Amino acid sequence: MKYVLPLTHPLLQTVDVSVKLSGLQILDNVSIGVPEGVVTGLIGPNGAGKTTVFNVMSGFVKPDAGVVRYEGRRLEHIHPHHLTRMGISRTLQGVGLFPSLTALDNVMMGASSKARAGIVAQALAMPWVDRERSRLREQAIAVMTELGVEGEADRFPSELPYPIQKRVALARALVSDPKVLLMDEPAGGIGAADMKDLERLIRSWVPERTVLLVEHHMELVMEVCDLIWVLDAGKVIAAGTPEQVRNDPAVLAAYLGDEGA
Ligand SMILES: Nc1ncnc2c1ncn2[C@@H]1O[C@H](COP(=O)(O)OP(=O)(O)O)[C@@H](O)[C@H]1O
Ligand SMILES: [Mg+2]
Repeated sequence: MKYVLPLTHPLLQTVDVSVKLSGLQILDNVSIGVPEGVVTGLIGPNGAGKTTVFNVMSGFVKPDAGVVRYEGRRLEHIHPHHLTRMGISRTLQGVGLFPSLTALDNVMMGASSKARAGIVAQALAMPWVDRERSRLREQAIAVMTELGVEGEADRFPSELPYPIQKRVALARALVSDPKVLLMDEPAGGIGAADMKDLERLIRSWVPERTVLLVEHHMELVMEVCDLIWVLDAGKVIAAGTPEQVRNDPAVLAAYLGDEGA
């Protein structure tokens, strides 16, 4: 698919977003668009600001300037807890599972706050709570089965190999059946076979879901993305199809010397 930039009606976008942290300019007028129903990549050397873009999109970091729009609505002051209800879900760089919860309970925590209220209210023995909890449990088991980790449901994160922890974290992001999935380095620390599975999974979600993928593994990015944005030192330096980006001199220059890329 070819994209004419700037995009006309992206589902999710940042417009001229700038962020300063500890006096440093982390993002400088970043405008990126995520079209509906495709896989969009966000790449760039370590420290370019990719995770910060996710943090701005999901309300964890307030931009000093600029706006975030989702389905035409402003998002930059959204409370992170409201995201799942709006159909946006996110995986964290690394894993980010709750160490004191089993894999299954971790996945159930990814449900919308209304559904999660069931877990809390269970202590109050409200009549609707058991029904709600078993419905949520079924959903969580279904997603874990899809990702091949249902056998680990009762284990704690520290008992699981890293690639399995990553799958559990992905299941947590998927359990709310999100319309938009923001994934921060899903392939970090996993092997070639898991990477192939991930590639197939991501492609299987579109066009029903919209994906924004931050990833360092270039083969994966080039394989799964329809459109790619490139950040370097807090600025967008290139955008386009995988072919366009791969051959862009500014991108090649930015990656020179970046071992992690
Ligand atoms: N809370 C913070 N205070 C100061 N600097 C930060 C903070 N968070 C991130 N940074 C810096 O912002 C830059 C971009 O970070 P990040 O968005 O994590 O980059 P990426 O995900 O592309 O590797 C890095 O130089 C990082 O050190
Ligand atoms: Mg990062």
